[in-house]
Amino acid sequence: MKRVFNLIIITFIATLSIFCPTESVSSNETIPFNETIPFNESIPSVPPPSGICLKSQVVANGTQIKTGGNPNGWCSSVIQGQIPTNEFMVSTLIIKPKDGSIVPANQNFTLSIKIINLQTGYFADPDTEYYTQPQELNEEGIIKGHSHVVIQKLTDEDEEVVPNPNILAFFRGLNDPADDRGILETEVGTDTEPGLPTGRYRVCTMASTYTHQPVVMPIAPRGSQDDCIRFIVIG
Ligand SMILES: *[C@@H]1O[C@H](CO)[C@@H](O)[C@H](O)[C@H]1NC(C)=O
Ligand SMILES: *[C@@H]1O[C@H](CO)[C@@H](O)[C@H](O)[C@H]1NC(C)=O
Ligand SMILES: *[C@@H]1O[C@H](CO)[C@@H](O)[C@H](O)[C@H]1NC(C)=O
Ligand SMILES: *[C@@H]1O[C@H](CO)[C@@H](O)[C@H](O)[C@H]1NC(C)=O
Ligand SMILES: *[C@@H]1O[C@H](CO)[C@@H](O)[C@H](O)[C@H]1NC(C)=O
Repeated sequence: MKRVFNLIIITFIATLSIFCPTESVSSNETIPFNETIPFNESIPSVPPPSGICLKSQVVANGTQIKTGGNPNGWCSSVIQGQIPTNEFMVSTLIIKPKDGSIVPANQNFTLSIKIINLQTGYFADPDTEYYTQPQELNEEGIIKGHSHVVIQKLTDEDEEVVPNPNILAFFRGLNDPADDRGILETEVGTDTEPGLPTGRYRVCTMASTYTHQPVVMPIAPRGSQDDCIRFIVIG
């Protein structure tokens, strides 16, 4: 367990220096588990202190695990980490397209979001480092991470059919640092299919930490860290 964790830290520091070459990274920036809390060596990856992972047979390993309906899911022992003070809570607006607007079908369009209190550009490898590190703050007390945009089709006029989170019209991680106004942009469309087909859609942001957990906020009564709007695509 200790060896594995040390290895994760080393990998993390090595990766950070690849992704963020201008940032100097000291070991102080990562808060490790309290290694003096005893744990049972013969049970792999059971976390101190609660043992919650005893319920799940499947243990987090840095990949995005789909468990095929396993009711015990899979278990992560990573602590929540550094939580910002309420002066530094993440807040986001989708600024393009506007809520309720009409977008032409099958043509790329620009999706822009504006975000405060997230130091963007921190994006760990989602295939090997998913949920592997606690949330971390920069020297100013702001979460280091990135955001995502996800678009889903709304299938009924009344908007009472809840969208299936496995069915996406578009998804993209916004991996780069925002510009100096806090704006991140992406073009909606792929090489083979520009834009979106006709329909009613919802677009949402998902702010996350460096290793993709949803951002952890200090207080419950707060403005949402994310934004969603609806728009219509007409052909
Ligand atoms: C790391 O933390 C220790 C203890 O708080 C401190 O003495 C040391 O200067 C810190 N190192 C860096 C590089 O910030
Ligand atoms: C680590 O855990 C031990 C045992 O519970 C406790 O005595 C110690 O104060 C903890 N250390 C820190 C830095 O939290
Ligand atoms: C550690 O876990 C194993 C397997 O569940 C169990 O047989 C053993 O008694 C445990 N040891 C301690 C010290 O709890
Ligand atoms: C991670 O765990 C899942 C579920 O147990 C397993 O299917 C997958 O092969 C593991 N991947 C690695 C790289 O260990
Ligand atoms: C649409 O945008 C995608 C990137 O999201 C790009 O790969 C593609 O070439 C663009 N298509 C056109 C027609 O501009």
